Amino acid sequence: MERPPRDTRGPVELTVLDDVASVARAAAEAICEWAARHPRGVLGLATGATMVPVYRALSRLDACRPERFRQVVAVNLDEYVGLGPDDPGSFHHFMQTHLFSQVPFSAHCIPNGAARDLDEECRRYDILLDHLGGVGLQVLGLGTNGHVGFNEPGTPWEARTHVATLSASTRAANAATFASGQHVPAAAVTMGIGDIRRAQRLLMVAVGPHKAEALRRLLRDDPSPHFPAAALMGHEPPMQVLVDRAAARRLSEW
Ligand code: GLP
Repeated sequence: MERPPRDTRGPVELTVLDDVASVARAAAEAICEWAARHPRGVLGLATGATMVPVYRALSRLDACRPERFRQVVAVNLDEYVGLGPDDPGSFHHFMQTHLFSQVPFSAHCIPNGAARDLDEECRRYDILLDHLGGVGLQVLGLGTNGHVGFNEPGTPWEARTHVATLSASTRAANAATFASGQHVPAAAVTMGIGDIRRAQRLLMVAVGPHKAEALRRLLRDDPSPHFPAAALMGHEPPMQVLVDRAAARRLSEW
């Protein structure tokens, strides 16, 4: 089979694949290979539409028995403020539905967006991350405004877990996961860019034409605090970026 085009010249390792299914499978394989090498590792997980096929592929990979993750600790990036774990719009619920019900982990950790004292909850999550020794492999999506986790434009690159006010565009992009008429929360607890940058490895997934401009800004524009994902450029080793052709259509050489 012909090898997919891969760009290793820049500060990321970019792979462009034909379609969403191919990207999801490649991401699942990368996660699975990492787990084989780090059976007691800490796996950072993301939510969002991009991750649904990735987690489906992960739970169905022939080469990757679910038992492979039994000693892996899963830590999620973020959770909406005000939503308890049983709320269908919560990321707790998303993770349970799309991954944790299929793949057993030794533990899964997600910020508690319903905590009474959110500052305390942020500190608790940072202590937890430090106690775990940081994240081994961090899986990431890409927001159309460049957000990673819920680190919105302007977030300091050294930020740790904090309460983020969500932009109108981020709330609109996430409205589909809420029942019609249900209010999209205005804030979230999110791991900071500093926590994400400290991960040993980064794996970003972006698919669909609506991600094309964000991907172009990430890979072609000068890094700017107005585009949070830019903080991950130049990570060592380089961030692995898996995209489909639709997302890559504004990168002139593809
Ligand atoms: C969300 C999440 C991110 C996610 C991003 C992209 O709101 N907090 O972790 O990567 O937005 O989401 P999607 O995959 O739905 O485009």
